[in-house]
Amino acid sequence: MLYFIYSGMFFEKSLYGDLLKLGKFRVLEHEQNTMIIEAEKDFVKELKKKPSMFIHSIFRIGNITDIDEGRYVDSLHTAVESLKLKKGKRIRIECYDVNSKRGLSAKQIEMELSAKLKKEGFSPELVKPDLLLYLVLINMKCYSGVADYRKLHVKFLNPLRHYGKEGGRLVSRSEAKLLEAFEAFRIKGKGIALDLGAAPGGWSAVLVKKGYKVVAIDNADLEYEKIEEQRMSVKVLTNLRKKKTDINEQLRNVDIVHIRENASAAFSRMELKGVSLVANDMNIEPEQSAQLLMNYIGFLKRDARLIMTVKCISRKVSKHIANAERILEDRFEVKGIKELPSNRQEVTLFAKSA
Ligand SMILES: C[S@@+](CC[C@H](N)C(=O)[O-])C[C@H]1O[C@@H](n2cnc3c(N)ncnc32)[C@H](O)[C@@H]1O
Repeated sequence: MLYFIYSGMFFEKSLYGDLLKLGKFRVLEHEQNTMIIEAEKDFVKELKKKPSMFIHSIFRIGNITDIDEGRYVDSLHTAVESLKLKKGKRIRIECYDVNSKRGLSAKQIEMELSAKLKKEGFSPELVKPDLLLYLVLINMKCYSGVADYRKLHVKFLNPLRHYGKEGGRLVSRSEAKLLEAFEAFRIKGKGIALDLGAAPGGWSAVLVKKGYKVVAIDNADLEYEKIEEQRMSVKVLTNLRKKKTDINEQLRNVDIVHIRENASAAFSRMELKGVSLVANDMNIEPEQSAQLLMNYIGFLKRDARLIMTVKCISRKVSKHIANAERILEDRFEVKGIKELPSNRQEVTLFAKSA
């Protein structure tokens, strides 16, 4: 069986390790952070049993079609025909052009093919399809397949394209990273979020949109204007005195309270109750980041969630993760760790306070 695999750039070695845990495989194509592999076992099923940290998406490939340069879209249409679709099902086409770069964007290809299918009596459908028909273009070959949309673990080929937009607006990589974490770990909730390492404010803004009031801690400025343009209110607190400031009180009339202090100083000068989510994106060594975070444990509710970026400052990925976990384990139960599409040299850890 053939599979399309999408992973992060920095973690090739770790990805191979994850794939080997699923079974034996052979690599047919390896371009950028995508791969076509051949495996004996059903890797989609195996992945459900043994979740992987480094595989972002995996899709079963049904057919391989050569792409004819002169008849570019027509040859992709031949690839679609080779899947022998039944009429009557609502179909969404998704194309990922890894490296053929013919001047047509993946979106244009999807639109042209959808129009052709419509003429032939099929029902293209973007929002609630029955089937996802996917085309991966690598080295002038089209790897195609089709899957039941409802059963797919990930509903898109190229996560960066998917998360890059929210409500039509492009979000920054770090905003996308948080959105991906909410989806990957199925996080729901509201209340008060503590955002450690918050500047320039991408995560804080996402958290407000998700319904949280946010306590943002960073000694750098947030992009206040940009945040206010999105109709969110921010209050900045600097030079907190020894007499502890009641942050719940400060939060009453605003969406975000920004404490412009280092995380190693802020906790001792504030009073705060009822934090239901800690978001920690501090760009420091994982062990130090986890240690700083532990100073805030007294502010958390029972069962509070933690989303933390673990920076892999060297290729000793497992060591960095283990160092952070060791410190957190005292008060948190780690529920999952994943290298998300918008992570760069880092993984995202999700935990619940015990
Ligand atoms: C990657 S950026 C965070 C981006 C942010 N999540 C966003 O979406 O805009 C990392 C931030 O961590 C902050 N940081 C690093 N060490 C810190 C510390 N000890 N205390 C507070 N903030 C820290 C840096 O100032 C920097 O703004």
